[in-house]
Amino acid sequence: MSRSRLSLPSDPALAPGEARCPGPSTRDIIISDGDNAPAALTDPEVYGFLGQEDIPFERYASREMFDLEMKRMWNRTWQWACREEHLQKVGDYVVYDIGHYSIVVIRVAPDSIRAFHNSCLHRGMQFFDPGTRGSGKQFLRCPFHGWTWNLDGSLKEIPCRWDFPHVQDEAFRLPEVQVDTWGGFVFVNLDPHAGPLAEQLEVLPEHFSQYAVPLEDRYVALHTEKVLPCNWKMGMEAFLEAYHVLATHPEGLRTAGDANAQYDIFGRFTTRFVHTIGSPSPHLPEPPSEEEILAVLSSRRKEDIPKLADGETARSAWARQARANVGEEFDCDLSDVSVSQMLDSIEYWMFPNMMLFPGISIPLIYRFRPNGDDVDTCLHEVLFLRPKPKNGPTPPPAEKIRLEIEDSYTSIPNFPGGLDFVLDQDTDNLQRQRAGAKAAVKRGETLGNYQEARIRRFHATLDEFLAS
Ligand code: FES
Ligand SMILES: [Fe+2]
Repeated sequence: MSRSRLSLPSDPALAPGEARCPGPSTRDIIISDGDNAPAALTDPEVYGFLGQEDIPFERYASREMFDLEMKRMWNRTWQWACREEHLQKVGDYVVYDIGHYSIVVIRVAPDSIRAFHNSCLHRGMQFFDPGTRGSGKQFLRCPFHGWTWNLDGSLKEIPCRWDFPHVQDEAFRLPEVQVDTWGGFVFVNLDPHAGPLAEQLEVLPEHFSQYAVPLEDRYVALHTEKVLPCNWKMGMEAFLEAYHVLATHPEGLRTAGDANAQYDIFGRFTTRFVHTIGSPSPHLPEPPSEEEILAVLSSRRKEDIPKLADGETARSAWARQARANVGEEFDCDLSDVSVSQMLDSIEYWMFPNMMLFPGISIPLIYRFRPNGDDVDTCLHEVLFLRPKPKNGPTPPPAEKIRLEIEDSYTSIPNFPGGLDFVLDQDTDNLQRQRAGAKAAVKRGETLGNYQEARIRRFHATLDEFLAS
């Protein structure tokens, strides 16, 4: 396959969105692994053309847009606040913040989690500082004058109660925020009239039931939060496509399917890409041999690679190695896990800001949020969810490591699998993209019909919220 082949104009006989990269598709590659890959990975793609108009850059820069998102979207959508393991014991709490909203999520009984607005009903003081977490709370007591609520939200005590004859207990229950859980995540929704979380999860429960090592059987082994120099949507969209691999991560071309990645648009709220690891990019004029691919994957010289058995691919050999390595490191049995789930970059997105990777070697969760009230910066969290050990206690969830805009992921000791370098490449683009977009003469971005369709789906759903 030649480089020019991928640069040929679109076939005019095809309707918009129908064109695909020539050569084997992601699905072809996964099926040819010949193992027990789940139907979620071998079923035909789910895609529908969503239009091809430019997305205005104004959407990333305007204060009005940011404020409208706060008023009509963030306070009406399900979003994950923390993991259940952050709330192991009664009285454990996490403060989840989105823009100027702040929510206390707290375990109030062994089988019950509640969430309250982090704002005292006396004079508005926050019960806890934004972004903090703690334990041992039997009550919510305001640090200013000491008004106190029980964990069920009922008013417990007002110092000098004789001075507040106008305060009725029932009217002064703490306002609650809707809570639900799935996959070990605790979700909140500020809208008391919002529909159930299940509506927003769409295909996720069904698909994730097919993957090995369910999300609820994993723990947070590493957790970072980096400030990105751009609007939260721009930061998130850098991770919604594999189109940028060619120019941004060129060293990955020998081992990553990029132009032939699969994109699914499951519904209003969920999308996915799957790009293979251990198969070469269709951009390469000459595909490397399987031994060469295996050498790159294992960071060894080709001469040091044991000969592959007849018909064995670099993918299957590397997956076998990964099953053994990860299984030993995290004390779990991965012998039945498909090559694709072991290796590939399988990324689900749920509106508005969550990405979930069911893969075993790339077991990531991403969350993107505005950085407080700032239009031009955002927070990007990365969690590595590893299998809970078969024997012995599960380690506590990792403490969050904060990185500022200029900090490199390589400053974090033992960051897994070379992903520090990749994340630096991704996030290093954003300052220039923000600056270029603000100064652009052409006032919007022009998206690929297929490879960037997830970005378009996101904007369409966002617009539905903003318009209603
Ligand atoms: S502001 Fe909370 S007790 Fe006064
Ligand atoms: Fe990337």
